[in-house]
Formats: sequence, structure tokens, C-alpha cells
Amino acid sequence: MASAVQRIGVVGLGAMGAGIAQVGIEAGFEVVGREVTADLADAASGRIGHFLARKVEKGQQTQDESKAALGRLSTTTDLADLATCDLVIEAIVEELGPKRALFVELERICDAEAVLATNTSALSVTEIAAATTRPDRVVGLHFFNPAPLMPLVEVVRAELTSDEAVATALGVVERFGKVAVPCHDTPGFVVNRVLIPLLNDCVRVLDESRVEPQALDAAMTSGAAWPMGPCALLDLVGIDVHVHASEALYGRLREPRMAPPPRLVAMRDAGLLGRKAGRGFYPYG
Ligand code: 3HC
Repeated sequence: MASAVQRIGVVGLGAMGAGIAQVGIEAGFEVVGREVTADLADAASGRIGHFLARKVEKGQQTQDESKAALGRLSTTTDLADLATCDLVIEAIVEELGPKRALFVELERICDAEAVLATNTSALSVTEIAAATTRPDRVVGLHFFNPAPLMPLVEVVRAELTSDEAVATALGVVERFGKVAVPCHDTPGFVVNRVLIPLLNDCVRVLDESRVEPQALDAAMTSGAAWPMGPCALLDLVGIDVHVHASEALYGRLREPRMAPPPRLVAMRDAGLLGRKAGRGFYPYG
């Protein structure tokens, strides 16, 4: 039997973690967000408050709903404060070592019935789960950026994930009002297996076709009805995040299209990381 989730922990309140926390409180869950410093936690709460305030201003939510949602959010720097969570979603740095170390800690802290989820984009959920003594309760919950706006969540079954853990995760995604796509733990799951080489192709086309980012974006929004062009999307995702995910998929699949194009690697090395850095393919802010 899948357990009823009431309280959700989110570890890491960067763009993805804060977005996931927002989805959780808007869906009526109590959410405990954990960051490494109080300043980072406050900044994340501030961003969530900003997006909820915008929804009130635009008439998408009442002031009372927004206030009640924010009242369900608490933040902490102490992982032990996640002890009473029924589900913990990890959204920390995309490195296997720190993720595995975190899951060891979560297993020690959380109740034996709690489901432990990773939001990894391109790492193996099975390898993360293998750091614990109870890999049956570890699943992937892969959200898309920006999490509050993107409907999809991939629910990833690792090699030893139990039916109960999958059912609990699916139940939560349904209560989030999101579209769940259950899938197995293959490199890139469903969307990134398609999207990462596709975005890499787009960047190669920039040089081959000798077009500017604006022109490529116009081509893909006007000619293929993409909601935003590939360069704007890469700036949104973060050039560093995309390069890292490409390298991870290339490492696992050895398909040349997965490898990050040199132009993206150079942008990453130069700090042109996209929106969050104020400059990527486009300038911001
Ligand atoms: N969190 C919460 N709310 C947000 C937000 C965020 N990060 N970003 C924007 N919003 C809110 C804002 O309040 C904004 O309203 P405002 O500008 O009036 O304040 C509101 O959302 C609407 O924003 P937009 O007007 O920009 O909305 P659009 O209708 O243009 O849609 C979009 C924006 C949903 C991002 C759309 O352009 C889109 O679908 N783009 C494609 C995104 C995509 O493909 N994402 C997947 C990336 S791949 C990935 O995540 C995988 C990972 O593993 C790397």
C-alpha cells in the first residue's frame, strides 16, 4: 500500500528545488526546504514569495491562498529537520558523490517508510539508491524548468525501487496537478534522452548555418512552434547545467550527439551561463 504523504522535504533550494517547494505548498503540502546557509534559504523563500505575489497581482490566486501557501513553507539549514517528512526530494548539485552522501544521511535521519526521491537530470537513480541499505524506497522525480510552470514530472523506477515507492510518488505527482510519465532508469530518462542531443544539434547548426542565436530562435519558434527558441531555452536551463548533463549522457551512451558542442563548453568556461549569470546567448537584466 502506498503511504499518504503530508509533509515533504526538499533538499537544495536552487532554481529547481525552490520551484519544487513552490509546487508542493501550492498543492497543500507542508514543505520543509533545506539549504546550506540561512541566506540561501531566505533568498529561495523570497523568490517563491515573489512568484506567488505575481499570481495574486494577475488574479490567478487570492491573497489568502498565497498567504496560506507561504505559511506551509519552512526552511532550515539542518537536515535533521526533515526527520518527519514522508517524502524527501533531493535537488542538490548534479554530482554523484554528494548525492550518494546525502542519501546515506537521509536514510539515517528519515523514517523507514519515507520515500526518498532524486531530481537528477542525467545521473543514474540506481547508483544513487545503491548508496543506501534500502534502495527499494528510492525513486527519481524529475521536474522540468521552471518547475511551477512545466506540467511534466518523470517518475523514474530504479532497478530495486518497490511498487509501493512508485505508487507513493505517482500519488504525490497527481496531487501536484502535474502530468506523470513513469519510466525506467535509463540515461536521460525520456525527455532529456531526446532534448539534450536536440539542443546540441541546434548549437551545431548555429555555426554550420552561420545564423545568429536570434535567427535560430525565430526559426524554431516560428517554424516548429517551440514555445521558446533553443538558445533562449539553454539560457533558461543554464549553460553549465546543460553541458554537465550532456557530458553525463555522453559518458553513459557514447553517442557523439550527446557530447556538448565546443561552443557551449567555451561559454561555460567563460561564465556565460545564461539568465542566472546575466549573460548567455543573450544579455539579461
Ligand atoms: N517559477 C515560478 N514562476 C515563474 C517562474 C519560475 N521559475 N518563471 C516565471 N514564472 C511565472 C512568472 O510569474 C511569470 O509571470 P510574470 O512575468 O508576469 O511575472 C509567469 O510565470 C509566466 O511567465 P511567462 O510570461 O514567461 O510565461 P510563458 O507563457 O512565456 O511561458 C515557459 C514560459 C513556460 C517557460 C514557456 O516559455 C516554455 O514552456 N518554455 C520551454 C521550457 C522548457 O522546455 N523547459 C524544459 C527545460 S529542460 C529541463 O528542465 C530538464 C532539465 O533536466 C535540464
